[in-house]
Amino acid sequence: MKPSPELLNDVLDEVRPLIGQGRVASYIPALEEVPADKLGVAVCYNDGDIITAGDADEPFSIQSISKVLSLTLALQNYGPLEIWDRVGKEPSGQAFNSMIQLEMEHGIPRNPFINAGALVVCDLLQSRLSAPRQRMLEFVRDLSANPHIYYDKTVAKSEMDHSDRNAAIAYLMRSFGNFSNEVMPVLQTYFHYCALRMSCVDLAKAFNYLANKGLSLGAEKTIVSHTQSKQVNALLATCGLYDGAGEFAYRVGMPGKSGVGGGIVAVVPGEMSIAVWSPELDPSGNSLAGTAALELLAERIGRSIF
Ligand code: DON
Repeated sequence: MKPSPELLNDVLDEVRPLIGQGRVASYIPALEEVPADKLGVAVCYNDGDIITAGDADEPFSIQSISKVLSLTLALQNYGPLEIWDRVGKEPSGQAFNSMIQLEMEHGIPRNPFINAGALVVCDLLQSRLSAPRQRMLEFVRDLSANPHIYYDKTVAKSEMDHSDRNAAIAYLMRSFGNFSNEVMPVLQTYFHYCALRMSCVDLAKAFNYLANKGLSLGAEKTIVSHTQSKQVNALLATCGLYDGAGEFAYRVGMPGKSGVGGGIVAVVPGEMSIAVWSPELDPSGNSLAGTAALELLAERIGRSIF
């Protein structure tokens, strides 16, 4: 059964009282200005049907959700060993911007979704793509079938102005020989990817290839192989929500990826991709009401990968 817009509206109404219990990300000052009461959801079925409720059409900063898209670009441009020799496939159990394991594990990040792992992926892209920012923009515009997606320069600059921790992570990896390019240009690429502005509708469409065996209806092409789509979903299920990954798997039961802008993307393989947005975060940096909305929706439509 496909959820009706009424069902999606009911889900949003039920989780709306949670707004006020989380905190909008403040370590990137430009994100702090987003109204905390935004709430939206979009579901994209593999046949192209889209069902929405709330602020589903309003663009927001996708932040770490972009790490899935950069990994996908890397999978398109590198062989598996070239990637997985430099970044692991294990959950970290630590905050997304933690450095604690990186020193002990010789500069090899645990997975591509923590900041360290995403920076390695951006380093790979910087080495092989002539214009990595332009390539990403074309990629997401294609996937979402929306030529108006753009980088929010204010957010990218705000991150660059507060980049000490990410820079430290990159320099530490460089000291271990796991970073090929100069740090600053790679940070600029990474911050631009994080500063992509997309709506729930854009995100649900863009991520549908992970629900559809690697095939994107929006882009009308195969993005990754069926096997690779399963592998990315496995990484999302175990690592997509950082030290909150177990809790998210328990409550929502779908592979997912969050961002500190308050977005979460979730995938029901073979059926649909879902995007939710609510800017207030829980202590792990994942959208508080967004997680609750996904939990309720999963229960109402009776879906779980487990
Ligand atoms: O590098 C950062 O810290 C941010 N641009 C992205 C962090 C993020 O979205 C973590 N997600 N929940």
